[in-house]
Amino acid sequence: MAVHSTQAQLKLPALLPGSKLNDPHQTEDPAKYPAEESKYVLPYLLEKSPEFRDLSDMRQQGWEAPERNEYSTNVLRSADESDENKAAYLHKFMSTTAREFDKAINAFKVQRVGSTPPVILDMCMAPGALLEIALKRNPGARALAFSLPVSYGGYKTSVASNLNTKRVFLDLTMRAADMDVDQIPEGHENTENFLPLQLEEGRLFDLVICDGQVLRQHSSVPHGGNRGARRVAITQLALGLQHLRPGGTIIVLLHRLETWNTVNLIWEFHKISSVRLFKPKSCYTKRSTFYMVATNVESQRPEAIEAVKLWKRIWRIATFSSNEECGKVVLDEESSVETLLEDFGPELAKLDKAIWKTEADSLVKVPFMKKPK
Ligand SMILES: C[S@@+](CC[C@H](N)C(=O)[O-])C[C@H]1O[C@@H](n2cnc3c(N)ncnc32)[C@H](O)[C@@H]1O
Repeated sequence: MAVHSTQAQLKLPALLPGSKLNDPHQTEDPAKYPAEESKYVLPYLLEKSPEFRDLSDMRQQGWEAPERNEYSTNVLRSADESDENKAAYLHKFMSTTAREFDKAINAFKVQRVGSTPPVILDMCMAPGALLEIALKRNPGARALAFSLPVSYGGYKTSVASNLNTKRVFLDLTMRAADMDVDQIPEGHENTENFLPLQLEEGRLFDLVICDGQVLRQHSSVPHGGNRGARRVAITQLALGLQHLRPGGTIIVLLHRLETWNTVNLIWEFHKISSVRLFKPKSCYTKRSTFYMVATNVESQRPEAIEAVKLWKRIWRIATFSSNEECGKVVLDEESSVETLLEDFGPELAKLDKAIWKTEADSLVKVPFMKKPK
């Protein structure tokens, strides 16, 4: 796999920002998604998936509605009310999500290998609801949990402190040594913030949770903004897959199922694991957010090793290169859209159904929206 470029930016009827009052999450950024390939994925989905057609109609309506700006402003104003409210809200939000997730998909229970207790890696733990469920489902399990320091806008954790969970507070995107970079380019503005190795080569986990996402209060994080969001996603994927035991499970928070980067990523995992998608019905409903659960991941297969190398290369470009170079990077050059759709299209249309439907059902509840005919 290699890196190639695209100049155009995505012009999609994007979703309504915000899901409900106090939604702490950042408005999604369409500029992250390469347009060229998405242009081919979209017509395919529009043709094959009635659920996606309905959702596209709803999103279009949302963007055209004169009430939209006022609605979004109110949502964001409420979300910015106070840090205390935000933390409490995110904790409640994530606990509800975790319970529903656990009930709907038995993803947190680890398939044990031999008699060793399961080990769990949480790449962005706080507040910690998903990890709490994972620890509950695996009595005796040990966890290593990374979290953004509170001084950078990270959250306090809700996970009860016990000997089984080691917590490490750091900015995930500065893990240069883990991303195989020992030399920081001279004069880099954040030289002193790059981090030494946190996970030694060959250290493997049975379950990896990649639920990190840039939230609005993370403006103090070096390299925040759009690039920060890409670096959070890429770092989690690279280190998550690298340190996953063959046959293990990885859970990844994703957005915008209709875009090339996301579809391509799911396809990559489809080749090396059993993939399921899950969108909670209680949270995240009006957003394009959902989870991918990949089980029995063949993490040592050449495709997996190549993917980790590619993500590390993208991290280096996103971290050290100019905005222009960074904007040109996409995930996979070798796989063409045609090959993807031929090989994975029918499966994708099946996997997607519930995700589109949940979002459309939720958008229809926005006061000024009408159900598509
Ligand atoms: C959706 S929350 C995770 C919720 C958590 N999994 C739970 O179950 O409660 C997203 C997390 O990503 C973290 N995050 C965002 N950017 C980060 C970064 N650069 N380094 C580390 N964590 C980051 C946020 O601070 C937040 O804790």
